[in-house]
Amino acid sequence: MRPNFFHHLHPPTIPAAQARWRYTLGAGGTAIFLVLVLIITGILEMFFYIPTPAEAALSIQTISYLVPFGGLVRNLHYWAGQLLLVVSGMHLLRVVFTGAYARPRRFNYLLGLALFVFIILLDFTGYILRWDQGIQWALVVGTNLVKSIPWIGKFLYQILVGGDQPGGAALIRFYTWHVFGLMLLAAILTIWHAFRVRRDGGIAVPPPKLRTSPERISRFELLRREATAMLLAGAALLLLSALLPAPIAPPITEITALSSDTHAPWFFLWVQQLLKWGDPFLLGVLVPVLVLVFLALIPYILPKPSNAELGRWFPKSNWLAQLILALITLLIIVLILLAWGPVIK
Ligand code: HEM
Repeated sequence: MRPNFFHHLHPPTIPAAQARWRYTLGAGGTAIFLVLVLIITGILEMFFYIPTPAEAALSIQTISYLVPFGGLVRNLHYWAGQLLLVVSGMHLLRVVFTGAYARPRRFNYLLGLALFVFIILLDFTGYILRWDQGIQWALVVGTNLVKSIPWIGKFLYQILVGGDQPGGAALIRFYTWHVFGLMLLAAILTIWHAFRVRRDGGIAVPPPKLRTSPERISRFELLRREATAMLLAGAALLLLSALLPAPIAPPITEITALSSDTHAPWFFLWVQQLLKWGDPFLLGVLVPVLVLVFLALIPYILPKPSNAELGRWFPKSNWLAQLILALITLLIIVLILLAWGPVIK
């Protein structure tokens, strides 16, 4: 049979060390499953969602309460989006904490990072599509951050929201980015990223002469493990969707970020917290961009993991990258928790 993309991702056998749960956490594969769930449930939602300021929030109420299984589909879409952020964040941490980003995987690391940014943007644009009273902080303060960029900020803002303030033009732009532009780019990057994993020799393990075990697993065994991960992730997703409905609020009557119960989506709460302490451009734009630039430079500027230490957690040879990323992650979590207090009061 002619080898196809499936065979490329699943060769007849692979080293057993490349498919251990406790090494990969199954996070990359679970992320692919969540992307598929998001595409299917998102397409179903498109049959009922209406991207106009007057109808958006009402159409979401229609989906949630009137369309048969609409509430379940919306909840699945919402929770798959949240889980995808968490799972791809875990995957990013595992890649750095195992030193798997080093040559020849440097380019794929950058593809993964770009994918991570697209996922954040997809989550953000999807959140705005609710166009209800819960999203006003993100709509007003979030888009104003773009305006704070020196020289080009006003111009970028107009391109983003389609005018001097967010309204119908902004909603249709966020909608088009969400269901078409970002979606297409993220889908292409996901396929490319998965393709590159195998092209780079599979999951990072020591080269054959340094390996301690010659054990290999078959394509069938790999598939069995992937199916198990998918079933577990699917069950967790169904449980969350059945028990915890996605947020919903009354339609926006007047666009303002001043209402006390409006806040950033959870993954931007750390930025909201930073904004309380100073300049919007410095803390709301420059700091997140610098974090991203640092992440992108890890494989290029920090000491590399040694070949013999590949395939296991916390290699000594790249301790500096691990330490800095651990500190950044901790700081972001603390900032989120600080901002979370007032949100759940
Ligand atoms: C939606 C987001 C993502 C998807 C669907 C995805 C998918 C995958 C899959 C299926 C694998 C192989 C299995 C595994 O390692 O668990 C993988 C490996 C890899 N990913 Fe991702 N990934 C994503 C995000 C990222 C991010 C954010 C990064 C880092 C910035 C990244 C960097 C890598 C690298 C370097 C490998 C090779 C790891 C190794 O050889 O040990 N990926 N990815």
